[in-house]
Amino acid sequence: MTDFAALATDIAREAGDMLLVKRPSNPEVVQTKSSPTDVVTALDRASEELIRARIRQARPDDMILGEEGGDTPGSSGVRWVVDPIDGTVNFLYGLPEWAVSIAVEVDGRIVAGAVNVAPRGELFSASLGGGAVLHKDGLAQERLRCNSGVPLARALVATGFGYDAARRRVQGQIVAAVLPAVRDIRRGGSCAIDLCSVAAGRVDAYYERGINYWDHAAAGLIATEAGARVGGLHGRPAGGELTICAAQGLFEELHDLLVPLDPERDA
Ligand code: IPD
Ligand code: CA
Repeated sequence: MTDFAALATDIAREAGDMLLVKRPSNPEVVQTKSSPTDVVTALDRASEELIRARIRQARPDDMILGEEGGDTPGSSGVRWVVDPIDGTVNFLYGLPEWAVSIAVEVDGRIVAGAVNVAPRGELFSASLGGGAVLHKDGLAQERLRCNSGVPLARALVATGFGYDAARRRVQGQIVAAVLPAVRDIRRGGSCAIDLCSVAAGRVDAYYERGINYWDHAAAGLIATEAGARVGGLHGRPAGGELTICAAQGLFEELHDLLVPLDPERDA
């Protein structure tokens, strides 16, 4: 059987290396998507093309879902979920918080994931039931464990905001109510890195509305394998409605803070 985590890791490493080498000092926006600030660069596309080519070479019958290229059908029951650059706005501005994210789903369940934070020389990976690790500069492997026993009032909480102005207005109201209840807020600009940061104990929790499957597929497994709970409101799965991630006790506290704020509303 294919070692999916190893293959995802190799491909994410190659794509991240390519992006580091090829990133021009001022990347050009080639397309906008859901809003004028939701951008695509030529290298988002080049990264996805490279990843798709490598997957096809190794596993020609697999399905692929990619942020830029959409759905490619396949017959094997295996689907790759690809975000060629998560944190595209950071990539555009030359900030080091962007990552290549690749997840592998078998019969609808994520079984492996790799998130390559190439500018930092950090690659996070996990396999279902096998734990989560951080490879630094391609060398040492550190087993990841999220922080536990942190009360909400002392929690460092990462979050993010969508590209749509109306949604951001609501997200601003929600974060204004969360801020006085926690240690502080972080907005790094990459959902995948935020979830890996929970896994590594660099933040205590994360929540966000409006993320896409490719943003959280790989990093959600990494966080889960590091001991965190990843889910939505009222026992629902993580997804675009709302995703919360933290160790169990903090997950519950943050969940209960968010519920009366109605974070899934659109206005
Ligand atoms: C975005 C990032 C960001 C999150 C947005 C995502 P992109 O993905 O993950 O942190 O707040 O919701 O859309 O556009 O950089 O691939
Ligand atoms: Ca993304």
